[in-house]
Amino acid sequence: MHEISYLAETAAHDHEIEEINAEAFGPGRFARAAYKIREGGPHERALSFVATHEGRVVATVRLTRIAAGEGRSLLLGPLAVRPSHKDLGIGRKLVRIALEAARDAGWASVILVGDEPYYGPLGFRQVPIGQITMPRPVDYRRLLVHEIEPGALAALTGEMRHADFVADAPSGAKERVAATA
Ligand SMILES: CC(C)(COP(=O)(O)OP(=O)(O)OC[C@H]1O[C@@H](n2cnc3c(N)ncnc32)[C@H](O)[C@@H]1OP(=O)(O)O)[C@@H](O)C(=O)NCCC(=O)NCCS
Repeated sequence: MHEISYLAETAAHDHEIEEINAEAFGPGRFARAAYKIREGGPHERALSFVATHEGRVVATVRLTRIAAGEGRSLLLGPLAVRPSHKDLGIGRKLVRIALEAARDAGWASVILVGDEPYYGPLGFRQVPIGQITMPRPVDYRRLLVHEIEPGALAALTGEMRHADFVADAPSGAKERVAATA
């Protein structure tokens, strides 16, 4: 299995990505807390990647801009690999590619809901319980962060939302936005 290609996602991949996510997560995916956030706006196409094998998409990872308090971050997910291509290192490689792209684009952290045993070795650790809340019930032990800039997690507080829900204003103007909201 040496012919796996890793590519930036394009709209041409959408159908297969949907198929992979449906297979990996089933109809329950629409009820997930992370889905609720992602539904608030688009994902970052330029920071989302697929793995292909013989012209077919076999794995997908997406990043979505989120806001929590004053902090801004990227929510990683869904990450899914076709059953036929599991345990080949494709999932880990996609996470590493997404993290590198996030760093290159100047992001300070990446956050996700997932299994610590899988993501821990990729540099993710648990967010202190109570620091960030999600719009739907979630096992907060699975809320993990990868700090690209040490200390970046500190700015992420309160309810996580898609970043498009939050007015971004230059510092100083923020108070005026809040005062007139
Ligand atoms: C989880 C998933 C993305 C892993 O992708 P993958 O390409 O098969 O995994 P990799 O080849 O990168 O890594 C395989 C290793 O991770 C381990 N692993 C897989 N899922 C794991 C999990 N949930 N927790 C801990 N370890 C896990 C495997 O046992 C294997 O261990 P080994 O290297 O010691 O043999 C894939 O199995 C998948 O699509 N699952 C269904 C969807 C899902 O659960 N996505 C993650 C949501 S947070």
